[in-house]
Amino acid sequence: MTLIQSEFLTEQILLLKINRKSAMNAFSDELIEAFHGALDQIGEARVLIITGSGDKAFSAGADLKERKNLKEDEVWPAVSRIRKLVQRVYELDIPTIAAINGAAFGGGLELALACDIRVASRAAKMGLTETSIGVIPGAFGTVHLTRIVGVSAATNLILRAKRISADEAERIGLVAEVSEDCLVEARQIATEIARNAPLAVKRAKEVVKGVSLNLEEAFLAEEKAYQSLIGTKDRLEGLQAFSEKRSARFLGR
Ligand code: COA
Repeated sequence: MTLIQSEFLTEQILLLKINRKSAMNAFSDELIEAFHGALDQIGEARVLIITGSGDKAFSAGADLKERKNLKEDEVWPAVSRIRKLVQRVYELDIPTIAAINGAAFGGGLELALACDIRVASRAAKMGLTETSIGVIPGAFGTVHLTRIVGVSAATNLILRAKRISADEAERIGLVAEVSEDCLVEARQIATEIARNAPLAVKRAKEVVKGVSLNLEEAFLAEEKAYQSLIGTKDRLEGLQAFSEKRSARFLGR
């Protein structure tokens, strides 16, 4: 069985589907390895969508059955394997969209939090549930959630190990959109992004991600990113297309 299904929806939009329905798409070691393999194939994709297979789960996080059999000194290395995957997704330079099609708990939500944009199906549920099993979020969840929804909402969710609905997640800004089928919505967003100038999209992502730098550094990062685009062919093409009242044909140069 392919634990990560990989499909180019268009030449520019890559979809990765977590495919371990029998365990609510939880992250076994084997699945993590397959995920790395799929990320190696990103190639020229301009947007990445991550979702779960089936309609029950995006991912229920760490494989708690595997975890139960670990000796104490094996636990952190296992957490680190999830951390490494989540960090790799966070560090991708192309835009990433998590299409949360069902339950996203613990590491499953942490993976979604490492993406740039989250959309959810109406029936999805999510939460950082770790304190309910005696630990804390270990794959950057405390940091990312706080940056996304603010200290007050993040504390409320994490300390209570609260499981919230898609509508509630939208209300606090954890997901950008809720729809009947989040994959349709994710694809629409990806199409809009892929239409834009690839280098400008990458620079914008970089700068927005840097918002936790101190202000001086953030201002400088924006200045440098803007300047790096001035000499591109795509910038001239954008202006030319506007004056000719047509869509731009961006080349990523
Ligand atoms: N690791 C390993 N197996 C998991 C799992 C996980 N994180 N989450 C669910 N599963 C397994 C269940 O044990 C069950 O397997 P079984 O059929 O062999 O008993 C199967 O997936 C289906 O789960 P089940 O709980 O029966 O389905 P449900 O629809 O009632 O509930 C969830 C789904 C996701 C809400 C529920 O399984 C859950 O809360 N899981 C734990 C999520 C969590 O807290 N993760 C964070 C870990 S830090």
